[in-house]
Amino acid sequence: MTRGGAKQRGTGRSAKSSAASHDNSDQQLTQQPALESSDGEIEEDEVASSKSSFEVEAIVGDAMIEGEQYFEIQWRGLGIEHNSFRTKDEMERENPKALAKYMRTLGKSKADVRKFYQLLRDAKGPPISVINTVDEVGCPENFTYINQNIYSDEVPRPCTPMFWCECTNGCREGCECASERNYDNRGMLVSVGKERIVECGPLCKCGDDCINRVVQKGSKAVLELRRYPHKGWGVATKRLLKRGTFVAEYVGEVITTDEAESRGFKDKPQGLTYMYDLDNEFFASDCSDFSIDAKTHGNISRFFNHSCDPNMNTRSIYIEHRDPRLHRLAIFATRKIKVGEELTIDYSPGAVEGESVKTDPCHCGSKKCRKFMYF
Ligand SMILES: C[S@@+](CC[C@H](N)C(=O)[O-])C[C@H]1O[C@@H](n2cnc3c(N)ncnc32)[C@H](O)[C@@H]1O
Ligand SMILES: [Zn+2]
Ligand SMILES: [Zn+2]
Ligand SMILES: [Zn+2]
Repeated sequence: MTRGGAKQRGTGRSAKSSAASHDNSDQQLTQQPALESSDGEIEEDEVASSKSSFEVEAIVGDAMIEGEQYFEIQWRGLGIEHNSFRTKDEMERENPKALAKYMRTLGKSKADVRKFYQLLRDAKGPPISVINTVDEVGCPENFTYINQNIYSDEVPRPCTPMFWCECTNGCREGCECASERNYDNRGMLVSVGKERIVECGPLCKCGDDCINRVVQKGSKAVLELRRYPHKGWGVATKRLLKRGTFVAEYVGEVITTDEAESRGFKDKPQGLTYMYDLDNEFFASDCSDFSIDAKTHGNISRFFNHSCDPNMNTRSIYIEHRDPRLHRLAIFATRKIKVGEELTIDYSPGAVEGESVKTDPCHCGSKKCRKFMYF
């Protein structure tokens, strides 16, 4: 293992699995976005107004139900719980453009990516599209999409915070949480380097609109899963990303380092790794008690590939607790990233040739490529 902040572990894999099970046949088919209030009641006024005000963001999947093809609509500005289904005829009448776009994506893809779309239904945030023009590999087996970390039985649950801020007038200078300024007024990360980020938490006196609450509100990045030659699945951005944009949290199963070691040895022949050590706080002594394994449970960040000249970096972040052994990992753009560009991180930022363990050849394609990935 090398020094230098959050980094990906070289050998982690898990045989433990729980396949995503999504069966379209029992999906309720609705004609308009179903707008439910917190107590589950449909808010009729909103449904009525939705007819005129809601636009189709994208078709995010399709399913054959009793011999008829249905398309799943993601509505602009609404969460996936409001998705609804339309027949092909209805789509042709109401939104032929969205239908044509979806058919083009399916047509371009060499692989059957429909199972991926079913899996991605569980993803929070803007819809994620999937395309594979490279080979015939589809959705990974035994993978469940999760939006936040899950903790294995051996890992203690992080304690609630022992301190909070009393700011009622914006968390700027003097705020105990954001002692260094973390974000600018538009929510872009301004602090650079490896130091940890502390966001305001549930006990802080500031409100939801506090400038120091960004990661906790979720990512707004619009992303695409793409197949890349020699690298497998990767992620590209569908919108320009400004430097400092929060892109995704690295989530998975939080396990002990011992368990991470043993999973690593077990799964070594598979050649893919999805393990991150939670050692940001300890880079001086290079040790950690826990790791995040995203092999069988993870989100979009599990698909970020490595680059020797990356456009994002990972920072340790504290939101609802301050336990340094169990910090969360947030991934931010480190420069402006153009539409269509692949999103990458350096799996081993402190790697030193001759000292770090070399693994597979690197295909990042950057001028600064170290030719191998290190762990
Ligand atoms: C966290 S996963 C990334 C997603 C992965 N490509 C997939 O299809 O699931 C890490 C694995 O992706 C592959 N990978 C990532 N970056 C790479 C690179 N620059 N060159 C070659 N392979 C890469 C390696 O197999 C690595 O173990
Ligand atoms: Zn605050
Ligand atoms: Zn605070
Ligand atoms: Zn490289």
